[in-house]
Amino acid sequence: MAGIYIHIPFCRHKCSYCDFTSFPDKIEYAEAYMACLYKELKMRGEELKNYEFDTVYFGGGTPSYIPPKLILGAMNQVRACFRLKKDAEITLELNPGTIGEAKVKTYLQAGINRFSIGLQTAIDDQLADLGRIHNAHDYVFATKLLKGQNFSTDVMLGLKNQTKEDVAKTIELAAACGSKHISMYALTVEDGTPIYTDYLNGELPDGDEVAELYEFGRKLLEEKGYKRYEVSNFALEGYESKHNLNYWKRGEYIGVGISASSFMMGKRFTNTFDLDEYMKCIISGFYPAVTSEAVDEKTAKFEFLMLALRTKYGVSMAEYKEKFGATLAEDFPHALKLAVKYLELDGDRLKIKDEYLYVQNSVLMPFMEEIDV
Ligand SMILES: C[S@@+](CC[C@H](N)C(=O)[O-])C[C@H]1O[C@@H](n2cnc3c(N)ncnc32)[C@H](O)[C@@H]1O
Ligand code: SF4
Repeated sequence: MAGIYIHIPFCRHKCSYCDFTSFPDKIEYAEAYMACLYKELKMRGEELKNYEFDTVYFGGGTPSYIPPKLILGAMNQVRACFRLKKDAEITLELNPGTIGEAKVKTYLQAGINRFSIGLQTAIDDQLADLGRIHNAHDYVFATKLLKGQNFSTDVMLGLKNQTKEDVAKTIELAAACGSKHISMYALTVEDGTPIYTDYLNGELPDGDEVAELYEFGRKLLEEKGYKRYEVSNFALEGYESKHNLNYWKRGEYIGVGISASSFMMGKRFTNTFDLDEYMKCIISGFYPAVTSEAVDEKTAKFEFLMLALRTKYGVSMAEYKEKFGATLAEDFPHALKLAVKYLELDGDRLKIKDEYLYVQNSVLMPFMEEIDV
């Protein structure tokens, strides 16, 4: 499996918690940026002629903010430059404050067959507090435009004054509107974002409170038929995200656009985060990568284990042996003993028990220490 990630770094307004590479004041660069991005697609496509791609993912930023013809242009370019499977999953991230009928029409024409909508919460006061540009009604409107389409909804936990009832309202709204997939992320608070002040003032729920909201949300999602297949991702049967599953299987992907990361041929590399530098590099015919490193064997082993253990499928011991020539027991004798109460064996697959998946980071700690990465 292999995926293509396309980064669109424009937003109408910056949300108070967001640390992604996205600019609220540079939309006038969208055409020029996308022209560069088309060129980067061409450059990468020439290099990756032997690859067949299964997924395309437009992330951001807000891909639904830029003129939709630029998304259509990007998909035309992807098809012209890469071998894309006929049934490829093609996802576009969408903010409910930036959508209309004509846009949806163009997306469908471009072959987008999956949408990921940022709702975060159904409580309007909380949306306003986060600096979101939409209210819950705008989400309902967006989902009506997407009737019959496969779409996912992003929900956030750990917001100021957020209660279990608020989480229930949010999940119930997403389910009632026909979401096939729900991502439920605990808020991460990064230094330098406006929400950091709320955090310093003790206005955000603490870790235990967020864990309780998560457990509450998880149960409700499962009751409604959304099965957890990764710590933050829940889907109705058959609607798991192929693009993300490829990340967790440590599959290859190519990222284009500013700040996009790639994992190809055993190397991880990331493009520059600077818009001007990105455009200058591409115009001069250079790749705008700022970091590039070959992944050593120890890191590869840990990554393979860590990514697989985030999912309900766990890690295949046979696959591990086949890839690395050693068994998990040979590489992690002590960590396996320490973590034994958190793990279970299902045939050939080692998994984190359901009740410990939320705290997988601490379960993984001894593995990281033992392999010394
Ligand atoms: C690029 S945004 C999705 C599309 C669009 N930009 C939007 O916000 O509606 C990706 C998702 O990441 C999540 N996210 C962003 N910053 C986060 C943070 N600091 N903590 C937790 N989740 C975050 C949000 O749920 C958001 O919907
Ligand atoms: S709209 Fe999305 S990408 Fe833009 S600032 Fe908000 S969360 Fe970040």
